Amino acid sequence: MAISRYVLLVFTIAMLASTALSDPILTKVDRRIYLTSQIVRIASTLKVENPGPLIMSEVLLAFPELQAKNLAYLMASSHESKGKAKGSVVSLPIKAVNLNDRPSALTFYSVILPKELAAGESFTLDVLAAFTHALRPVPEKITQADIQLVLYGDSVYYLSPYEVKVQSLSVKLPDSKIESYTELENTKVHGSEIKYGPYENLPPFSNSPIAFHFQSNLPFAVAEELVREIEISHWGNVQVTEHYKLIHGGAKIKGEFSRLDFQARPNDRGASAFSFLVAHLPARAHSVYYRDLIGNISTSHLRGDSKKTELMIEPRYPMLGGWRTAFTIGYGLPLQDFLYESEGNRFLNMTFGSPMIELAIDTLILKVVLPEGSSDISAAAPFPIKQWRETKISHLDIGGRPVVVLEKTNVVPEHNQYFQVYYKFSGLSMLREPLMLISGFLFFFAACIGYMHADTSISKSSASYLAKQQWEEVQVLIHKVQNVISRCLATHDNLEASLRDLSRTGDVQACKAARKYADGLLKELSKEMKPLLTSLQAYPSAAQILPKVEELVAKERELQEKVMLKHSTAVEGYERKSGARDIDHRVALLQQKITALKQEVDDLLQFIDDII
Ligand SMILES: *[C@@H]1O[C@H](CO)[C@@H](O)[C@H](O)[C@H]1NC(C)=O
Ligand SMILES: *[C@@H]1O[C@H](CO)[C@@H](O)[C@H](O)[C@H]1NC(C)=O
Repeated sequence: MAISRYVLLVFTIAMLASTALSDPILTKVDRRIYLTSQIVRIASTLKVENPGPLIMSEVLLAFPELQAKNLAYLMASSHESKGKAKGSVVSLPIKAVNLNDRPSALTFYSVILPKELAAGESFTLDVLAAFTHALRPVPEKITQADIQLVLYGDSVYYLSPYEVKVQSLSVKLPDSKIESYTELENTKVHGSEIKYGPYENLPPFSNSPIAFHFQSNLPFAVAEELVREIEISHWGNVQVTEHYKLIHGGAKIKGEFSRLDFQARPNDRGASAFSFLVAHLPARAHSVYYRDLIGNISTSHLRGDSKKTELMIEPRYPMLGGWRTAFTIGYGLPLQDFLYESEGNRFLNMTFGSPMIELAIDTLILKVVLPEGSSDISAAAPFPIKQWRETKISHLDIGGRPVVVLEKTNVVPEHNQYFQVYYKFSGLSMLREPLMLISGFLFFFAACIGYMHADTSISKSSASYLAKQQWEEVQVLIHKVQNVISRCLATHDNLEASLRDLSRTGDVQACKAARKYADGLLKELSKEMKPLLTSLQAYPSAAQILPKVEELVAKERELQEKVMLKHSTAVEGYERKSGARDIDHRVALLQQKITALKQEVDDLLQFIDDII
């Protein structure tokens, strides 16, 4: 093939480090490496010149093996389109170039230019590459009190099969806490940014390693697997269910983890931990839920405006290095926002990736479940993807529903692009089904159309809309109350644990310190609770549930007093060197009350959870 021969030629020439006339030249290269997220992004602006005499239509990009392995996303666009609205940037076609007899240490991609370059002409393009797992925690294991440090390595020179006339590099770090970096001539540090260059007249494949070792407390949230199921129901709903298997991909935590320390001083006792994740759902998402293996979790918060719905989810425990969690989020979407018709075909048009912010996904499996009887099914995505078919059978189906499965590894937020699933759905395929089902279906269909009309006719100012919105606000407030209460309960647990430690280790000072933390924490929580109750009182729709919420708060406070009293009694007894049995005896009555109150608080939480 002409192209590969051309590539081979370029490579051979490059290897010989000579410059033939037909070899393109990079007259200017600006490279910016962003180490400000767990996903490393490298943005390069390349000015390519054709010195002639041949016409040139492609530019080769080269990646060393280590980078090629972690490369998740590669995009090239004309530099002129920069600054235009995001949607209007047209990406140039890129293809992987395979050369049989070249050394395998480099991976090449070829960018097709929008127009051929004649001798003497030049073209400027922007290239964006995103890499996952490119930041290596060093040390690999840290204790809760240590700071997470990561290492990144690259070449100070742009790796190019062509001669580069002038080039410069800037490296952006999360902050100015830099452990070490490679210092060369023309290196400048400005706070969190390190600049190299300009360097001039470098031959092809120039390479000189640089490394950065720096503090990074960014959330290393990695989904080892994400299964997104999108189920289309012609009755007006698209149901999305996302199953996450998440790991904190940063430095692994070694030694014991103290939740008490973490809660009291989150900034220096588990600084690299993350305790919540944020998802941006479509604006009209409804019936949002979040659950893990144990059950529904109500400490998630939902906020929204006309453009998006923001879901903040808190796993049951803070995520530390190497820790895993699995959970599911689900939401419904209005069908008419995502399903379209063209020339007798229907098609779903939705974004591919996860709604979680800055999540790296090792394997994403997307399943689109179509209505039973769909035919002529095909799927289209803007990047290469593995796909196959399955069938899903649920109790109402006869032959099962066709499922289109798409699978992609190494997914980053840049893959949140639109994909389509096309299919035909005809009434005829329904006629073959038993009459009962048809009439049943038609009845439901009619009812649902009626329902959808009724639903869409509710304007944003109508009474029922306002009532719904107010109820949602009440729900958010109550979720916050539940959150504060569960943090109080966790503090009680920690106090109990400190007593157990005391009887084990005899360390009275540690026990008193734990008490002091707890006192401070509970005071803060009580401050947090006050405005929530005041706000709730302002909602008429909260009138029903308010007495229960107030009872919950009162019971928790009573429980708190008893727990404190038990703690003081036990510590005092210990200091007076009373025997364990004597102490047990003295706190026995308190313990009974505590157990009873705990039960009451649990019941109230359950009761409120059932209503919300
Ligand atoms: C969790 O919430 C979902 C959606 O609100 C609901 O369908 C389900 O029954 C709940 N599960 C439990 C165990 O409460
Ligand atoms: C899918 O939706 C997006 C956003 O609304 C739109 O820009 C795009 O053109 C749609 N794709 C198709 C094939 O209709």
